[in-house]
Amino acid sequence: MTKAESRAAIQGVSERAVAHAAAGRELRQRYTVADLAVFTPEEARRFVPQGNGDPQDNVVLAWELLYRLEPELYDRLATVERLHPEVVRWLPGRVDRIAEVGAGTGRLTMELVTRGRQVVAVEPALPLRRILRGKLAAAEGGDRVRVVGGFFDQLPLPDDFADLVVACSAFTPSSGHGGDVGLAEMERVCRPGGCVAIIWPNRLDWLTARGFRYVSFPGPMSVEFASYREAVELAGIFYPRAADAVRQRGERRVPFEVLGINPPRDLAFKVCAA
Ligand SMILES: C[S@@+](CC[C@H](N)C(=O)[O-])C[C@H]1O[C@@H](n2cnc3c(N)ncnc32)[C@H](O)[C@@H]1O
Repeated sequence: MTKAESRAAIQGVSERAVAHAAAGRELRQRYTVADLAVFTPEEARRFVPQGNGDPQDNVVLAWELLYRLEPELYDRLATVERLHPEVVRWLPGRVDRIAEVGAGTGRLTMELVTRGRQVVAVEPALPLRRILRGKLAAAEGGDRVRVVGGFFDQLPLPDDFADLVVACSAFTPSSGHGGDVGLAEMERVCRPGGCVAIIWPNRLDWLTARGFRYVSFPGPMSVEFASYREAVELAGIFYPRAADAVRQRGERRVPFEVLGINPPRDLAFKVCAA
């Protein structure tokens, strides 16, 4: 990647971070301080470290509550925001072991089923783990995937475990969602010569400063809502700035640029020292 490409990539990724933060109002308003009781002590320690967070002011906290209080709603969003197919094809195929962290309801996990002899999907939110297990039970080869609880900063896996350690739309530089400790954990679990990959990174500058390289795949990308009705409903919650545009288009398929976020077409990766 040239310096100009790198600058453009970093700019695009930061725009998504800004758009998601701006889009947070409707999401924040869904939850209150009382909802924080849903967190386990382990979760509260990471997501509400001072003990006094308010989801109405903090969109990151609101996302964590969404995963636990309205997991099906989150799954509907993740299902329609599909990854660029080349992102999955780029990942090492047919390896022995894969570890995915922050697996959610399986947007990436379901693609990993055929790529690893053994896949471990680490996901802290119990309601998301339940949905993911349900999908795997219905999928051919789903029994190759073990779904476990855990966090970036304390992965329940041995050293050098996996050929590929990957996170999709889950890792951030903040300590509650990865940070330097989380990155060190991903590298600990990666075997020498294996690969750590961060798909749809939100802070590329942070990752490149830590030795990551960047790949992005071109081409038009749209969010494939199930129906026009769903497009209007989900845009109202997750992309409120684009809600009028979505209504006016009258279509179920909405280009990412209309929604104001950069599409899931990119990844950052690092090969672990042999
Ligand atoms: C935006 S979702 C992405 C989920 C899934 N990878 C996908 O692409 O749909 C972010 C995920 O990161 C998980 N997560 C949040 N904090 C985490 C942490 N400290 N360690 C591991 N996973 C975390 C959330 O529970 C959630 O499943």
